[in-house]
Amino acid sequence: MNIAVLISGRGSNMLALHQAIQSGNLANVTLVLVIGSRKEAAGLAKASNLGLPAELIDRSKFSSRRDFEDALTQTIRQHPIDLLVLAGFMRVLSADFVARFAPNIINIHPSLLPKYKGLNTHKRVLAAQEKKHGLTIHIVTAGLDRGPIIVQKEIAVATTDTEESLTARLLIQEHLFLTLAVRLLADGEITLTRDGARYQNWKLDRRGIKWTAENHAKMKITRDDMVISVSSETQGSIVSSLPNRNRNLDKEAEQTQEAARELLCRIKKWLLEQDSNLRPIG
Ligand code: GRF
Repeated sequence: MNIAVLISGRGSNMLALHQAIQSGNLANVTLVLVIGSRKEAAGLAKASNLGLPAELIDRSKFSSRRDFEDALTQTIRQHPIDLLVLAGFMRVLSADFVARFAPNIINIHPSLLPKYKGLNTHKRVLAAQEKKHGLTIHIVTAGLDRGPIIVQKEIAVATTDTEESLTARLLIQEHLFLTLAVRLLADGEITLTRDGARYQNWKLDRRGIKWTAENHAKMKITRDDMVISVSSETQGSIVSSLPNRNRNLDKEAEQTQEAARELLCRIKKWLLEQDSNLRPIG
């Protein structure tokens, strides 16, 4: 899978993806392009120094969003790109732009969406004395931080946390979970459609795969009249709104649940292995 990463600043999430590719953690991924929207974006120089194709498309040089997005589109289309990854890309994209590449645009946002859309999430989380904070990786749709969620990771907020400590702790998880999300897509475990994310031929609900602070995972997938809950820790459940279900469908749902649970357990194991290697990047 060929990806382009769009940045506006430091670029640590982009570097995390690059490192994961280098270390074999993203075996099916090639980082074909890094685009920066500001000349001050430090990540662009870092990408160039690593020999990655890096392009500046400076928003301040365009008089309208439309012209900026046209230039962006032109550059993207010069490369064989399967997925656009917005990682600290501080521009809101128009519905027209999104429609050109949908559903293959994802974004990482530092909050547990739908809570705390927009900027300064860590500060606002602390001001509200939240006990939980986290990150979300979602499909980009028109509208800020609104698309269907692919993966969400929760972290605990300590009473001693400052904006700096919380930012630093979450950023390490951002690097890990962005890598995970791209990996799930590149390996075809999760697919993207204009209607949301899918697991096999089941629809992942808008809340995506949720990882708790304790590293437990859960997700809900639906098809027709059926809802399957999958958990890395418990049996989960299969619920149908039809009273007399077809036995074959039941069997298929059970198999799907088992396979999805196996996936969550496999990811959990991978996350635990990564934990011991976690270091700040950028
Ligand atoms: C990250 O916190 C990301 O979630 C947010 O902007 C920050 C970008 O950091 N959208 P970096 O440029 O990847 O270091």
